[in-house]
Amino acid sequence: MSEPQAIYLSDYQPPAYRVTRTELTFELEPHATRVRARLHLERHENYGHGEPLVLNGEQLTTLAVAVDGQALNDNEYRIEDERLTILRPPERFVLDTEVEINPSANTALEGLYVSGSMFCTQCEPEGFRRITWYPDRPDVMATFETTLIGDRDQLPVMLSNGNPVEWGELPGGRHFVTWQDPHPKPSYLFALVAGELEKLEDRFTTMSGREVTLQLWVEARNTDKTEWAMESLKRAMRWDEQAYGREYDLDRFMIVAVDDFNMGAMENKGLNIFNSAAVLANPATTTDAAFQRIDSIVAHEYFHNWSGNRVTCRDWFQLALKEGFTVFRDQSYTEDTQSAAVSRIQNVAMLRTAQFAEDAGPTAHPVRPDHFIEISNFYTLTVYEKGAEVVRMLRNLVGPETFRRGSDRYFERFDGQAVRVEDFVATMAEVSGLELDQFMRWYSQAGTPQLSVQGEYDGQTRQYHLTIEQHTPATPGQPEKPPLHIPIRMGLLGPDGEALELVVNGESRGTDTVLALQQECQSWTFEQLDAAPVPSLLRGFSAPVRLEHAWSRDELALLMRFDEDGFNRWDAGQRLALAALEDMMAAWRAGDAVKLDERLIEVWHGLLNAPADDRSVLAEMLRLPTEAWIAEQQSVVDVDAIHAAREAAIGQLADRLYADFERVYHANQLDVPYAPTPEQVAARSLKNVALSYLVATGEREPLMLAQAQFEADHNMTDARAALTLLAHSDASDLGDPAVRAFGERWAHDPLVMDQWFATQVTRPQQDVMERLKFLMEHQAFSLKNPNRVRALIGTFVNSNRVNFHRLDGEGYRLLADVVIELNRLNPEIAARMVTPLTRFRRFDEQRQQLMRAELERIRREPLSRNLYEVVEKALA
Ligand code: ARG
Ligand code: ZN
Repeated sequence: MSEPQAIYLSDYQPPAYRVTRTELTFELEPHATRVRARLHLERHENYGHGEPLVLNGEQLTTLAVAVDGQALNDNEYRIEDERLTILRPPERFVLDTEVEINPSANTALEGLYVSGSMFCTQCEPEGFRRITWYPDRPDVMATFETTLIGDRDQLPVMLSNGNPVEWGELPGGRHFVTWQDPHPKPSYLFALVAGELEKLEDRFTTMSGREVTLQLWVEARNTDKTEWAMESLKRAMRWDEQAYGREYDLDRFMIVAVDDFNMGAMENKGLNIFNSAAVLANPATTTDAAFQRIDSIVAHEYFHNWSGNRVTCRDWFQLALKEGFTVFRDQSYTEDTQSAAVSRIQNVAMLRTAQFAEDAGPTAHPVRPDHFIEISNFYTLTVYEKGAEVVRMLRNLVGPETFRRGSDRYFERFDGQAVRVEDFVATMAEVSGLELDQFMRWYSQAGTPQLSVQGEYDGQTRQYHLTIEQHTPATPGQPEKPPLHIPIRMGLLGPDGEALELVVNGESRGTDTVLALQQECQSWTFEQLDAAPVPSLLRGFSAPVRLEHAWSRDELALLMRFDEDGFNRWDAGQRLALAALEDMMAAWRAGDAVKLDERLIEVWHGLLNAPADDRSVLAEMLRLPTEAWIAEQQSVVDVDAIHAAREAAIGQLADRLYADFERVYHANQLDVPYAPTPEQVAARSLKNVALSYLVATGEREPLMLAQAQFEADHNMTDARAALTLLAHSDASDLGDPAVRAFGERWAHDPLVMDQWFATQVTRPQQDVMERLKFLMEHQAFSLKNPNRVRALIGTFVNSNRVNFHRLDGEGYRLLADVVIELNRLNPEIAARMVTPLTRFRRFDEQRQQLMRAELERIRREPLSRNLYEVVEKALA
């Protein structure tokens, strides 16, 4: 095998031929599916006579190639390197091809594959080329007509994009359906599904009065898990009309649930395909967190109909154009329909642990990468989550009304086109009159900017000077980073926590303002202040940066209680806890008594006794910084100190605030029927946090509470919270029977078994290794199913840090074995799973060596392009 080569954004060439119309016929057979494609082609104005037509294809057995009805001679076309070249095609012509493919052997889950007893597709980004010969690139958009032929009994339902226009019986027990999609689309939005499926059907009337049929297709055993996603879909459709003026554009919208799926879901035109974990829900099997995740993914895929499908990407380097914008849209939807503060807190917590780590590691890349070997490796937190932050900054810079005018103009102007990030930003610049050239660096520059802030109060002049410096560390291939345009929302608090008026150059800006940092170092002066203020900086996390300022612990406690910004109240709490944990880690290393700062106990006591105006935010404030976030603060990650200090802090909070937690636990019991409403979610979240502290005392009594909650089994949120506490306790007389009972009760439901796996492998004790190996042999586990792999292996390596990083190297070895196996089965998943090993430079010498040795062992395998790219970067 020759070394895989990188592709560069700067090498982009427009396509030589457009496809005006694509007609496909599938004869569906698990081992040998026939695909006939008829493409109507036209040469582009910019290309001359004799320009060859190049089509992509992978793993196709080619049976026929004809131009305008004439089979081609050997000297009229060439097949090599996964390319079919038609040498001297006419200016306008019809190309017919016929290929055979093997969906049942497709374990990569890209292209057409078999999941259980159904056929389904995943074409984004480059899966369509595993189905038929095609110019498989997003800037080639065609209308599609698709005929599906299959066994009437085994495949009674056969779906594709658009509307069904013809159907009927065929000889030999077969039948056919023809679908037409009138909207021109790139091949990555093509989909088909066939199988024995049942549907939940509903209707939606759009804002202009059009009737749309909504269908959610599932296997029969899942019909009791469809209602929530249907509700979400209708809510999302209404929201997009109200918030963005976007209406749905076909007569039907279909969602299908599939068990084997690499990602969350896919926005195929009119036929979204979902990982069953991202769509199926009911109270008995699904936690609050999963209900919310499903809600946001259903919304996300629906929103793509405009941000992605009607206006699509010119090339895959522009992926964030659709993904960053659409994540921003789904986040806004969640903020409007759930607790806005909690939603922001959770998104930021994820971004600044996982995305910051990506930005600081060997695979760091800009929101718009400029080269790649395998584009599937770039469906990353940087493209999605940082991409969404960039859009959020734009909205904050231009203001919400102008942003809406900008998005209206963007959708209108580029409807039906394949465009670039520049087109989006230029539209915002145009409607706002702002100069956004410097802002564009957010798309091209990798790495997380670091801001350091100095405040100086002058009692003589009654002025407060705020100086902010920015610096972005080097990332692979980008040693020097010019300054970025960074919006910093902020305010000032007085000594009693009151919001101070911000007076700059004699003018009042209220109590909340945005500073635009554009230079390497900039200062602002606030006037008419009677005492040194406490700055509240980066409110709402107004930019994806690390911000340092030397707040005293008392100042943090003040911000935590009084800041008008809910996000910053939470963040001040995290900073205060981090400071306390640092003391504890230092004591632990020195072998001294590990004691928690009294101030934190006091502040928490206050929190637990304050009138609860927002219980969901309170629940978030009662969670200590995660081990991953603590690790992000350290130059060399000290896995064991982090774990020891954090556990000690939890234990001391539990002992000292026992009565408070007990009261909160009992005060937040609900006796209403389950619903994943923001109020109920908040109550359960608070109750279960409280229970976890009670159990952390190590006493028997709270474990009995957990056992009672587990057995009461009111809903999965409470049952799983209780199960986790029991399974992680040392009381095996309570833990073991609970784990066993849960596993037996839910053996028939793979999505619940995934939770069962995850719960067991997060157990912090050393014996978890044996348990993990045992579970890898469990009949409910399979390396072929990405959900199983993520639930068991992914959860262990990402959420059980002390055990994954054990010094005997067992955790690393186990992951490398799995990755080597996955490299053969499913390269995309293999390249994702290997991530924790690629971060070896963050750890001590001993761990570095162990991790590096495993990466080198992986490198000796014949690697897929996906894994090759990641492992090479890690070892470079
Ligand atoms: N566009 C899909 C989304 O909604 C994700 C598709 C990812 N495909 C892949 N092969 N990784 O975000
Ligand atoms: Zn998306």
